[in-house]
Amino acid sequence: MSDCNAYIQENRDRFLEELVELLRIPSVSADPEFASDVLRCAEKVAGYLKAAGAENVEIISTEGYPVVFGERHVSDDVPTILVYGHYDVQPADPLELWDSPAFEPVIKTTPLHPEGAIFARGACDDKGQMFMHIKAFEAMVQSDSLACNVKFMIEGEEEVGSAHLEPFLEKHKEKLSADVVLVSDTGIIANDIPSITVGLRGMSYVEVEITGPNRDLHSGLYGGAAPNPINILCEMIASLKDEDQRITVDGFYDDVVELSDKERAAMAEAPFDEEEYKASIGIGATEGEPAYTAPERMSIRPTLDLNGIWGGYTGNGAKTVIASKATAKISMRLVPNQDPEKITELFLRHFHAIAPPSIQVKITPMHGGKPAVTPTDSVAYRAASDAMEESFGRKPIPFRGGGSIPIVAIFEQILGLKTVLMGFGLDSDAIHSPNEHYGVFNYFKGIETIPLFHKNFAELNRS
Ligand code: BES
Ligand code: MN
Ligand code: MN
Repeated sequence: MSDCNAYIQENRDRFLEELVELLRIPSVSADPEFASDVLRCAEKVAGYLKAAGAENVEIISTEGYPVVFGERHVSDDVPTILVYGHYDVQPADPLELWDSPAFEPVIKTTPLHPEGAIFARGACDDKGQMFMHIKAFEAMVQSDSLACNVKFMIEGEEEVGSAHLEPFLEKHKEKLSADVVLVSDTGIIANDIPSITVGLRGMSYVEVEITGPNRDLHSGLYGGAAPNPINILCEMIASLKDEDQRITVDGFYDDVVELSDKERAAMAEAPFDEEEYKASIGIGATEGEPAYTAPERMSIRPTLDLNGIWGGYTGNGAKTVIASKATAKISMRLVPNQDPEKITELFLRHFHAIAPPSIQVKITPMHGGKPAVTPTDSVAYRAASDAMEESFGRKPIPFRGGGSIPIVAIFEQILGLKTVLMGFGLDSDAIHSPNEHYGVFNYFKGIETIPLFHKNFAELNRS
């Protein structure tokens, strides 16, 4: 390992510069305007993989954006690690809230990142974290210490729901065969409190459109009798939660697994400071179901949130108008054993049922994803836990996260593979937000921890 670490130290500057180059590409999967950039980013990742020592590097097409594949075979006697990550990023909007342009990376210090952090869309989610694996791999290859066979599968549609990966896995089962999936696309509690994510929420995402009158109307001439779709949409949405913040969609909680008191007590071991949490996002109080703690509401309980809502006049000044249409985007985070298709169906039925006859409702299901829980009693978990304990000097805490990575459940379903979510980001890294960043400390901590995982995983499989 010492040679591997020495190689990482010697190449620190280049490892950062190469990440900066990757971050310059606006690979926004949600917006077709960036299609050529997304494809250019796949090429760039493939080039980096090849340069790092991967063989059989391929850009494999799907019905959507391609998957970058590469591998290196050490021996038939050692296990195979399938590294998954994504090279696509969220849109950078709202652009005016960035202190520096989203695709012109800069390194600056912050109170939480005294060693500096790299500011750019995708810095943490997931280019920075995915790239740690390519650089750790390079270091292992160059120091002749690669202990496991490695396969890379880096996709370009994670941020839009990974809709084309199910057929991709079906088609390339053989090529992707492995012993475990290793992903760095989650976070740790703090730089001095390492943790390993052992649960992810699923997702059901819909867009709802309400149509009232057949055209925009003068709100004086027609107001009072003409149904206002914005008012009605607001009322319908407000009724989706009761006074205890329980989601009112019929059947919504039917399949929700309740955790035992023991499991909840174990979860409560993870440190959480409510005051600090409130201060960090500038809120006066947390909200949610009274029977659950804030960390529980963010991980083991489902949610229903508006992500956007619009209609009518939103320009300068006042315009008196009753709009013809109002629209909202709604995400529901799901927990075991909720099924995204079933939840979407329940939502559709419920939302149509509560609609007054004065308006029309159109619902467009967007993406979905199944929730996932990953084991803590596996060889792979132990390899990750020991690796982090060695690199951080503290044993990581298993932790259920609130975000979603749809592919994790699909890996299990199609390839029969369990995933280890060994991420290194911080919640404060502002992923999906303006001024996303990733700590230089975190980046190199990841690059140093990954080879330890490989070594531990090989050793534990031998014994
Ligand atoms: N990397 C995130 C998910 C994440 C972040 C999980 C931090 C846990 C901790 C991922 O890129 C993401 O944003 N996923 C989307 C999935 C959706 C588009 C289906 C999400 O969670 O909103
Ligand atoms: Mn991600
Ligand atoms: Mn993301």
